[in-house]
Amino acid sequence: MDLTRTPAWTALKTERKAWNALHLRDLFKKDKQRFERFSLALDDEFLLDYSKNLIRPQTLRLLLKLAKESALVPLRDAMFAGERINLTEGRAVLHTALRNRSERPVEVDGRDVMPDVREMLARMRAFADRVRTGKWKGYSGKPITDVVNIGIGGSDLGPAMACLALKPYGGNLRAHFVSNVDPSHLYDTLEDLDPATTLFIVASKTFTTQETLLNAQAARAWLLSNLPSPPGTSPKGAGRDEVAVPSEARDGPKVHRRAGDEGATHPVAKHFVAVSTNEAAVRAFGIDPANMFGFWDWVGGRYSLWSAIGLPIALYIGMDAFEEMLEGAFDLDEHFRTAPLEANMPVLLGLLGLWYNNFWDSQAYAVLPYEQRLARFPAYLQQLDMESSGKGVQRDGKPVKASTGPIVFGEPGSNGQHAFYQLIHQGAKLIPCDFLAGRESHNDVNGQHAVLLSNFLAQTEALMRGKTAVEAEAELVRAGMARRELKALLPHKVFPGNRPSNSILYRKLTPRTLGRLIALYEHKVFVQAALWNINAYDQWGVELGKQLAQVLLPELTGAPAKVGSHDASTEGLIARLRAA
Ligand code: F6P
Repeated sequence: MDLTRTPAWTALKTERKAWNALHLRDLFKKDKQRFERFSLALDDEFLLDYSKNLIRPQTLRLLLKLAKESALVPLRDAMFAGERINLTEGRAVLHTALRNRSERPVEVDGRDVMPDVREMLARMRAFADRVRTGKWKGYSGKPITDVVNIGIGGSDLGPAMACLALKPYGGNLRAHFVSNVDPSHLYDTLEDLDPATTLFIVASKTFTTQETLLNAQAARAWLLSNLPSPPGTSPKGAGRDEVAVPSEARDGPKVHRRAGDEGATHPVAKHFVAVSTNEAAVRAFGIDPANMFGFWDWVGGRYSLWSAIGLPIALYIGMDAFEEMLEGAFDLDEHFRTAPLEANMPVLLGLLGLWYNNFWDSQAYAVLPYEQRLARFPAYLQQLDMESSGKGVQRDGKPVKASTGPIVFGEPGSNGQHAFYQLIHQGAKLIPCDFLAGRESHNDVNGQHAVLLSNFLAQTEALMRGKTAVEAEAELVRAGMARRELKALLPHKVFPGNRPSNSILYRKLTPRTLGRLIALYEHKVFVQAALWNINAYDQWGVELGKQLAQVLLPELTGAPAKVGSHDASTEGLIARLRAA
């Protein structure tokens, strides 16, 4: 359905024009109830304040009308019901089943998937418990101290973001993440690790991703080259780098039996586990399926941290805390599924996203956590939002009629304040912002948390109010500036204000809070995609580069390609690289 042809869309265009004469500071002055009117609490722990947005009651009414005229509600219900709404891949979209904490069955083609989900969680728990308590021993008989997740995109960003966010809940294990095919990433990670106490998780939904498989092969070679022999066995060369790389490290090993036994077995079985949907490829890589945690094609890569892809999180914070995260996400699922549209956080956030994207021509939006441990949250959201919304055709294949996904960026405040906020305050672009902040800190020292929060509040207020020429002039006069100087400086001191932001205020960054935050954004992305009528669950756009890289690799390392097989730029760069 083409929303741009609906009466609500036309009315919103008129509403946008009306906004040329409106300013948020006036609306706040006139309406003392604006905060109450435009904020929404899930409970005491989780609040969305959307009052500093470029909306008034009629704007919101029209946006909600648009939502009702769209396929949002039927599509949402179809998602929760396990229908194959990922049209281009013919798959259901059921990350919500992974955190379904109710007794309700969730069916795909008439089959309840919940028993499989519960079994997966039980396996994760058993494994996490064994590793965390030291019962799972490495090949040399030592307990595991370091977990290295090798994966990329959805098989990296979510777990890496969550482990950093939940550091206060971390146990004795250290968690590391290697994603980039740049060998320096693995090299730097392994530099300080002891192979005898390191466990690798090879995480790949498809188990065909080049970056992940290459890093996994390199990690396996490192392990086999450097691992000391178990006590009581004939030494293979006790020290690091003294053991020859076994042929299987070079060629790919056979499948190892007796994986998980505490007795002498192959090192790979004691130091490698896989998370994937592709058992055959895991087996071909040389990881015993007994050491494999599976999931299903109805879990999209960027929605997969709730599945066994979340294993590094479970190992790091323990399964109880991981399940608390699931509970948090379930809170948001229930809210999204049942709350009326006008009191539904993801719906409101999605509508606001569309409002700026399509009616204010805003190209980007910033995610600004006032929480250092959410440092990777913007990167996580980049994949979630941009891989989902970066589409140019509608669900039926016809070109989209309105601009789709925004450019997502962000950094933790207050670092961002000293880097790119200038553009948001006084630049020529409108950049809506989401501010995230916790009422409590895990580590308040020296009253610094209050300083952090005062900065968060100051930024949202400054963006909204701005500073008028009259105010700026009065300030300069008070500072004793001479008239002529003042006149020249004044335009630079004026802030337009009227720059929109949401504030998401939670009590404390707990596993439950994090689960809520992630699910909130997942559903916001869903809402936008439903309104734009695009398929948020495929990512064909990343394929072309992958295909070309396959062609280019042999041309860099082997015989040169025929002249004229590429454009002049690519050929010039290849020549330079080959000459190096
Ligand atoms: O190339 C993009 C992508 O397909 C992402 O959607 C996905 O999260 C990532 O690659 C990794 O894929 P896999 O988990 O199959 O290795």
